[in-house]
Amino acid sequence: MAEWHVREFTPDDLEAVVRLDGESATTDLPAVFRLSDVIAALQARDPSVVVVADGHLVGAAVGRVVGDRAWVLRIALHPAWRNLGVGTALLSALERRLRDAGARIVAALLPEEETGATALVNSGFRARRGLTYFEKSEAVGAQSTTVLAMLGAVMPEARLWEQLTGMADEKRLIERRLVLPLANPELADAHGVEPPRAVVLFGPPGTGKSTFAKAVAGRLGWPFVELFPSRLTSENGLATGLGRRFEEVAQLDHVLLFIDEVEEVAGTRSLAAPASVAVVNELLKSIVRFRDRDGRLLVCATNSVAALDPAFLRHGRFDYVMPVGPPDSPARDALWTGYTAKTGTAADTAVLAEASEGFTPADIRQVAMAVAQSAFERTLDTGQRTPPSTQDYLDAIHRTRPTVSEEMAREFADQAVHYGRV
Ligand SMILES: Nc1ncnc2c1ncn2[C@@H]1O[C@H](COP(=O)(O)OP(=O)(O)OP(=O)(O)O)[C@@H](O)[C@H]1O
Ligand SMILES: [Mg+2]
Repeated sequence: MAEWHVREFTPDDLEAVVRLDGESATTDLPAVFRLSDVIAALQARDPSVVVVADGHLVGAAVGRVVGDRAWVLRIALHPAWRNLGVGTALLSALERRLRDAGARIVAALLPEEETGATALVNSGFRARRGLTYFEKSEAVGAQSTTVLAMLGAVMPEARLWEQLTGMADEKRLIERRLVLPLANPELADAHGVEPPRAVVLFGPPGTGKSTFAKAVAGRLGWPFVELFPSRLTSENGLATGLGRRFEEVAQLDHVLLFIDEVEEVAGTRSLAAPASVAVVNELLKSIVRFRDRDGRLLVCATNSVAALDPAFLRHGRFDYVMPVGPPDSPARDALWTGYTAKTGTAADTAVLAEASEGFTPADIRQVAMAVAQSAFERTLDTGQRTPPSTQDYLDAIHRTRPTVSEEMAREFADQAVHYGRV
């Protein structure tokens, strides 16, 4: 085994400690002190020490002093470094610092058989039997705020869902299949319904897949975390990076995890270079692990469902594979109504819907914004406010090329039949 040494924690160690914490657990029982408590202590520079071997962080112990009592919030050890005295060395280094900070009693509270129990006994700590730990937590507490920040999570607003206009069929399906079982887990359970864990949304660009994913998180009140595969390559390759990010996400109580353009990491393996085989395999494994826990949903979006590895779409990984198509005429009418309402116009939305075949919500938004901007400029130029007319919209529509050609629409309809699973 390589040389190792104990040293003081420094802020640069934070990410490595979080990662180590994920690898260290030896029991499935949740820790008493949450990861967010641990991170808060580390950031407050409470007494904490780490063990470094070969430049890698393989152990960490985090404490906090409260009056004359100190708590050992965490003892984390890399699995390869157990039973080598590392934990005991960590603990005595931590204990020294806690005593220096004024602690007269040093205490730890661990689930049975959790990492650190041996080190505690070896360091002269006595287990007190016959105690019961009582706890009452807020329903949706200040959960893992720091992990959330690290993952770039956002809390989408609930009203995002209401703002999604048209698309009534998709909305209804997504609400029934995804939102309602996740929002009512007991009722779902009483019906033998297993809440969904992972879904694929597919369809042409700009149909609202990303927006739907955010709106679902908003409805559930869950944090929305987007995983960007392109940003993970620096961490020892994409496969490793993906696995790690999934582990970090696993620390959260609730989360909607979103992967856009998933075909880039889950493309057909047979056509792919060997490196991407590893990536698809890692993603498949991560999804299986992700499915093990309650209170989370993975949403993957793609414009090219046909390019996905067949193994990716197989039953057991994704509960649903949902088409999100270009809006039909009534949906376009609703979208136009939504976007024109704010401009004070009496534009004929039925005419606009007819003229905008092949337009996606994104296209319609683009046109509506351009027309609104012109009207705004006209008011400034003329000093007189004239709301945009139906013709203004029609002119802008004719200047815009629809995203979805007839051929794409046909292809999508075929794919909806072939791949769709709702
Ligand atoms: N139902 C809707 N009502 C109103 N606006 C919408 C709707 N759906 C999408 N939009 C708007 O259209 C734009 C594009 O939507 P979004 O990015 O969600 O599409 P997408 O399907 O994810 O596209 P891509 O495949 O290119 O990633 C956004 O600005 C969004 O606000
Ligand atoms: Mg998108």
